[in-house]
Amino acid sequence: MPVWWPPPDGLLRTSAVLQEGAWERALRIKSRTSCHSGRQGSPSVQNKVALITGVTGQDGAYLARLLLGKGYFVHGIKRRSSSFNTERVDELYLDPHEHETRFFMHYGDLADATNVIRLVQQHQPDEIYNLAAQSHVQVSFETPEYTANADALGTLRLLEAIRILKLTDKVRFYQASTSELYGKVREVPQRETTPFYPRSPYAAAKLYAYWITVNYREAYAIHASNGILFNHESPLRGETFVTRKITRAVAAIERGLQQHLYLGNLDAKRDWGHARDYVEGMWLILQQPSPDDYVLATGSMHSVREFVELAFRGVGRMIEWRGTGVEEVGLERKTGKVLVRIDPRYFRPTEVDELCGDPSKARERLGWSHKTSFKELVAEMVASDLESVADARWRRTWAAE
Ligand code: NAP
Ligand code: GDD
Repeated sequence: MPVWWPPPDGLLRTSAVLQEGAWERALRIKSRTSCHSGRQGSPSVQNKVALITGVTGQDGAYLARLLLGKGYFVHGIKRRSSSFNTERVDELYLDPHEHETRFFMHYGDLADATNVIRLVQQHQPDEIYNLAAQSHVQVSFETPEYTANADALGTLRLLEAIRILKLTDKVRFYQASTSELYGKVREVPQRETTPFYPRSPYAAAKLYAYWITVNYREAYAIHASNGILFNHESPLRGETFVTRKITRAVAAIERGLQQHLYLGNLDAKRDWGHARDYVEGMWLILQQPSPDDYVLATGSMHSVREFVELAFRGVGRMIEWRGTGVEEVGLERKTGKVLVRIDPRYFRPTEVDELCGDPSKARERLGWSHKTSFKELVAEMVASDLESVADARWRRTWAAE
């Protein structure tokens, strides 16, 4: 029986925004009584202070929840936005005027060095998780300079803050590195020793971030580690990443709100896991006595095409493919209706054809492995979007797109 992950101790859910919303669906986890524990005795975590950049993103939301559950004080950095951008963490937020709270959010931007230094100085974190990034590969071709500023120099700014503030002995630093570093892959599966070959401005920026993290570890003895994470998804995934785009479309088509799903390269293959599992790996990486770099992956690879088939199968629609290239379509077997079409707009100037990770090192040293299967991931995302689509507010958003 699935259970709800209860709110962390001392946290009451007050936010009306997500009372019946994404969190309840997203945080549904399989029955289990404890998290992985690192093999090499983790220090006590009660009352530790964590700073999470990118707390409003998919991983930030899962990680904040995990750390609060472990008794951390969590400070998250959010960007100023003209509209609400904290939906994923609203449920964790308590008004400090009315409640004792362990979760705090502060305005900030990784493009602003003084802001970064001030936040690190004010909160004196034990652990920094650098998750903030312009994280969309295709968007990075449109905004390469901004992507480099946030993803590459943003990482440098944080590491410099640690050095300038003389926190090199105190702070442990996690860098959100990515399987995109392997790009045009040199070896299958990819492991920590596989050479990098970035294929986008995003990946090139993340390459700098990876190496500056290694450099600050070696130069200043900072406990700084890279998690080289393969794709991980969830009901909280951004709507323009392919998995969520598919599951939202399946739900909308099922409810008669959309006719077709337009996609790019159906044959791209990814090693897809669940974000909930991956944030546990991030935490374990920082609990190790020595800093190091780790691949987190499932070790299995599936195509976008397979994801589409499985997602539609979840609502009882079997997809058959006809045609080739940009003329290819996905038909519903029973009705012959075209549900999936190709739009070359979604092709990338340089594509990463396939990624498949080897998580052996993480398994052996951290005791980490993924828990959610590909099938379970797809089913959870489809179920969540089917519920969302029934929500009148969501339908309004949908109509506006
Ligand atoms: P996400 O949902 O796109 O979240 C990115 C977060 O970064 C958001 O909170 C965003 O704020 C924030 N952000 C963007 N630019 C910023 C800036 N200049 N200053 C401060 N904050 C900024 O990404 P995710 O999927 O959670 O991924 C988390 C991290 O892991 C990213 O660094 C990503 O590149 C990396 N990664 C992800 C995967 C994956 O499969 N998910 C795999 C490997 C690595 P807004 O909410 O205001 O936009
Ligand atoms: N986004 C998107 N939209 N991708 C599509 C589409 C579409 O309509 N059609 C096909 N794809 C293909 C892309 O060309 C790519 O090969 C694959 O689907 C996955 O695309 P995304 O879901 O956008 O993710 P990504 O693999 O490019 O990047 C994600 O994973 C990286 C880790 O490998 C992001 O989360 C990155 O931040 C992360 O580093």
